[in-house]
Amino acid sequence: MISLNVSLGERSYPIYIGKNLLSRPELLTQHIPGNSVLVVSNETVAPLYMDKVLASLTGFKVKTLVLPDGEQYKSLETLNTIYDCLLSNRFDRNTTLIALGGGVIGDITGFAAATYQRGVHFIQIPTTLLAQVDSSVGGKTAVNHPLGKNMIGAFYQPKAVIADTETLSTLEDRELSSGIAEVIKYGLINDIEFLEWLETNIDKLVNRNTVALAYAIDRSCKSKARIVAADETETGQRALLNLGHTFGHAIETGMGYGNWLHGEAIASGMIMAARLSEKLGWISSSDVDRVIDIIERAHLPVRAPAKMTADRFIELMKIDKKVSDGVLKLVLFKAIGQAVITTDYTEDALLDAIKDSY
Ligand code: NAD
Ligand code: GLY
Repeated sequence: MISLNVSLGERSYPIYIGKNLLSRPELLTQHIPGNSVLVVSNETVAPLYMDKVLASLTGFKVKTLVLPDGEQYKSLETLNTIYDCLLSNRFDRNTTLIALGGGVIGDITGFAAATYQRGVHFIQIPTTLLAQVDSSVGGKTAVNHPLGKNMIGAFYQPKAVIADTETLSTLEDRELSSGIAEVIKYGLINDIEFLEWLETNIDKLVNRNTVALAYAIDRSCKSKARIVAADETETGQRALLNLGHTFGHAIETGMGYGNWLHGEAIASGMIMAARLSEKLGWISSSDVDRVIDIIERAHLPVRAPAKMTADRFIELMKIDKKVSDGVLKLVLFKAIGQAVITTDYTEDALLDAIKDSY
C-alpha cells in the first residue's frame, strides 16, 4: 500500500492507494470520530462493494443510501434525498458520511457533508479511476445546475481517501478511458517527464496493466496533493487542474449531463486549449498533434460534438467559475508540459479554435 498526505495543517489527511484495501477495516475506522455512519453509494456500485464496506463497520450505527446512477442525478433534488435520510434517521453533528463510488457520488456526498448541520465528517472511497486520480482528492464538492456544471458547491476536505485499486477490475472500458483523460492532464499541465512516461505506457493503462495503473494513480495523486496543499481554494495555480474543463463543462452541459463522460469532454477540451494556444503562436502544430495522439491512444474523443455549434460553446463557456468580473480565464499552453492561466486571448481566436475542432 502507498500512503500519501495532503498537507493542509489541521485538515491534513491521508490518501491510501493499493489492492484490497476494502478488506482492511482499520484504514476506515480510525478516521470515524463518532459512532454513526451513513454510507452513500449508487445502484451500480452498492451491489459490488457495499457489503465489504459494511463488514468493516461492525459496532457502528450504520445506514446506507443507494442513489440512482448517473451524472444527471448530481442534482439538488438528489442532494435533498441525502438530507432527508440524515434527518429522518436523526443523524447528529458527529456523523460520518462515506462516499462509495465514482466522482458523482463523491461530489454530491461531499457537498452533503459540507452542509448538513454546517458540516459533518466525510470519507472518500473512490471506485473509478477518475475518482482515484482526481475527484476524491482536494475537497471540491458540488452538484450541477441545469444552467451550469458544478455550479453549487463548497470546498470541504475529507478525513481520508481510500483508493482500492481492485475495484477498477469491474469498471467499464469507457469509464477507464475517462479516468485516463485526467491522468494525461497532469502530464500536460506541468510534468513533461510523466507525459513521456504516458506516451510510452498508455497502451498498458488502456489494457489495465495493474503495475502501470498503480504508478499512474500514485503519480497523479502526488501531483494533485502538491497543488492542493499550495492553493486549496483555487486563488492561483490550482486552476491549472482545470485544463480543458471550461470547454469540457460546456460539452457536458450542452450535450445533456451524462451523454459525454466527464473525461471524454475534458479530453476534447484539452485539444481545444491546444488549438487555441497554437493560434496564439505559443505552441506548434506538432505540439497540438502530440496532444491529439496521446488522447486518441487512450480511446478518447478528439473532436468536438457535431451537435454543438461554436456559438453555443462560447455561450456556455461564459457560465464558468473561471469568469471573474465578466472576464473568462482559460488554461492554455505556453509549451507542452507548461500550462498557464490567462486572459491573453481574443474571442475571435477562441471561436476559430473551436471551429477547427470538429
Ligand atoms: P461516475 O461517478 O458517474 O462513475 C462512472 C460510472 O462508473 C458510473 O456509472 C458508476 O456507477 C460506475 N462505477 C463506479 N465505480 C465502479 C466500479 N468500481 N465498477 C463498476 N462500475 C463503477 O463518474 P466519474 O468519472 O467517476 O466522475 C465524474 C464526476 O466527477 C463528474 O461529475 C465530475 O464533475 C466530477 N469531478 C470532480 C472533481 C473534483 O475535484 N471534485 C474532479 C474531477 C471530476
Ligand atoms: N479537478 C480540479 C480540481 O480539483 O481543482
